[in-house]
Amino acid sequence: MLAGRASRSYNDASMGFFASIDGSVVPATEARVSVLDNGFTFGDSVYETLRTYGGRPFELTRHLRRLRASAGRLAIDIPLGNDALKGRLDALLARAGNPESYIRMIVTRGVGDISYHFERVQGPTIVMAVKPFEPLPDEDYRNGVRAALVSVRRNAPGALDPAIKSCNLLNNILAVREAQARGAVEALMLNAAGEVAEGASSNVFVVKGGVVRTPPLDAGILAGITREVLLELSAGVGVPAREESLSTEDLLAADEVFITSSLKEITPVTDVDGHRVGDGRPGLVTRRLLQAFREYAPRHCE
Ligand code: PDD
Repeated sequence: MLAGRASRSYNDASMGFFASIDGSVVPATEARVSVLDNGFTFGDSVYETLRTYGGRPFELTRHLRRLRASAGRLAIDIPLGNDALKGRLDALLARAGNPESYIRMIVTRGVGDISYHFERVQGPTIVMAVKPFEPLPDEDYRNGVRAALVSVRRNAPGALDPAIKSCNLLNNILAVREAQARGAVEALMLNAAGEVAEGASSNVFVVKGGVVRTPPLDAGILAGITREVLLELSAGVGVPAREESLSTEDLLAADEVFITSSLKEITPVTDVDGHRVGDGRPGLVTRRLLQAFREYAPRHCE
């Protein structure tokens, strides 16, 4: 835990932490999946993280589309349609009753026998969990955060494609642990070619001369939904945005840097490994995009 960041435990069901296991809603502390589940034995599973605005999930249809795309890459079949998945999530959110929720959806291949005999696996296992949404501290938006450019490289797409939002998060965990050891809240990773790829749990953007740039999908990154929304919104607020490969120099010489994710929205980065970004304050472009995003988000919940 980083100094100055409050620690809080969510292991109490009364705090609005509930799970849906194949459609049955229980307090999260009572939720169980089999030890033979491939998600546990092999990390053979995919996930989505969402948050609510006004109690409703933001861009749920886009998240379900990406969940299906990730599952499809692993040939995990999701036999439920979007209406059924949305119905399960609605029941879970209603039971939890949180003003705003963090939502995690996990689909594993199912219960197997600890082998590569995929034909024996009974599945999938569909888990949804919700807990009260804890926003980033307001000063992160007001002052910006520190990021670290870590030595851990992002998984190569030819090995484990970062476009698959898989529960195999060891690449991300190694990166974040390195960043946290350096007092940073997010790890920025390079790809195997040495280009800027993405954060351990965010996409990264730079601003130079009023132009926003972010690595293209073929840099080997997750197609972030906040990233996608931001690229759609930018023209409307008069900010040109381009998908372009970025070097370490582009990052360090930027006027502004920010990261995006479902949980972080658009968070200014004002320090990379002790190197001050721009004038060390969240910049005008970042603040304008954050404002536009916050106007958009509550109107795009389902
Ligand atoms: N992470 N890149 C990575 C590696 C991520 O894990 C995430 C999201 C993003 C941003 O994607 P989006 O805008 O769709 O949230 C980019 C979520 C928050 C998580 O792992 O919990």
